[in-house]
Amino acid sequence: MKQTLECIECGAVHPLNERAYVCPKCGGLLEIRLGEVLDFDPKAWSQRPLGVWRYRELLPIGEKVEVVSLGEGGTGLNECRRLAKDLGLKHLHVKNEGENPTGSFKDRGMTVGVSQAVELHADSVMCASTGNTSASLAAYAARAGLKCFVMIPAGKIAAGKLAQAVVHGAKIIEIDGDFDDAMRLVVDVAREDRSPYLLNSINPFRVEGQKTIAYEINDQLRRLPDIIVIPVGNAGNITALWKGLLELRALGLADTLPRLIGVQAERASPIARAFRLGSDHVEPVAKPETVATAIRIGSPVNWKRALAAARESGGLIETVADHQILEAQKMLASREGIFVEPASASTIAGVGKLVDEGVIKADEAVVCIATGNGLKDQEAVSFLAKPPVRVKASRESVMGALGLGICSVSGRRVYSRNFLMRSGMLGS
Ligand code: F0G
Repeated sequence: MKQTLECIECGAVHPLNERAYVCPKCGGLLEIRLGEVLDFDPKAWSQRPLGVWRYRELLPIGEKVEVVSLGEGGTGLNECRRLAKDLGLKHLHVKNEGENPTGSFKDRGMTVGVSQAVELHADSVMCASTGNTSASLAAYAARAGLKCFVMIPAGKIAAGKLAQAVVHGAKIIEIDGDFDDAMRLVVDVAREDRSPYLLNSINPFRVEGQKTIAYEINDQLRRLPDIIVIPVGNAGNITALWKGLLELRALGLADTLPRLIGVQAERASPIARAFRLGSDHVEPVAKPETVATAIRIGSPVNWKRALAAARESGGLIETVADHQILEAQKMLASREGIFVEPASASTIAGVGKLVDEGVIKADEAVVCIATGNGLKDQEAVSFLAKPPVRVKASRESVMGALGLGICSVSGRRVYSRNFLMRSGMLGS
């Protein structure tokens, strides 16, 4: 398959092996185009395991290249009947991207992006990150034997994600500012000849890996749903999802495409605002804030493609409040056993809101993309947790805690002072 690197603004075509992130002519973002499809056989796919490299012919990495892989993609698409009922829907699936090797969807892009870094003979890679990109890049750089630099907003990323970057051996540079400052800086530094290879979603190879989520959903459901809901931060993932869907249609593997609904956190929602206003311009949000730190972004790089994806698909970009995100996180975990981080839960919160408003109809088939694993961000759960019931290590106390004693004990409720004294839950 012949692929080219094209500017989304001026259409200039560049060689695939050029180390460029934006068009050298006009500064526009670059996109990889599939070109003519000659040697493509979807039947071959079913012989290969579900995952990013099942779709190798549609990825811009030569067939002979040994890819940098940890077994990414192939994540579960879980039907959620109980949650669907709670939300007023008949068909709801959650694509659990937290099952990826480093616990987020970023691994889909990094396996392709770091393979390309090796192809270009880069000896180091870098990114700006709200956490997951840095964790993923650090792991794939380690796998490839490359040096890794990550720039993060000081004090604003979840401890679990930072721990990942540390243990994989990345050099961590904390910026006295937010993600948007870090992003501006890496893009600036990337212009230098000797700069590490930049692997944010401005890099078109990242987007290529991430588009496979669309192919997987189509393979897993054996069709496409009516609606796909996805969290939006820097807007690389919604860009990639829409690209994958358009390619499925171009390849004759899908007829009607789903509506895409992007979800942003209320106080970090520049794209949703532009969508609401019908504007073609996104005004950055200064000092974005949200409990969903992964999408705490005020100046998203891929805003233009996100607006296009929502508009062309007949979808929208919605906002949800932090308390709705936390409630949704708890609902998904306690009703379906799927523990996601707050950014991912924004999709469930968005669905709840849009069903109530009649925008999503009860019989429409919905897929939510749960982008990251909840274990990475345990701080967020502290807002939700009921304190454990602490009892003495005795049969009587445990019976009480199980609700099998004379008096039962649950959560913070106190049933009988005497009982609690006897069972050791109160000091005498
Ligand atoms: N969900 C999670 C868990 C994320 O980590 C991110 C982005 C998003 C959603 C939004 O994706 O930026 O492509 O719109 N995290 C980036 C990072 C910014 O640095 O880890 P997007």
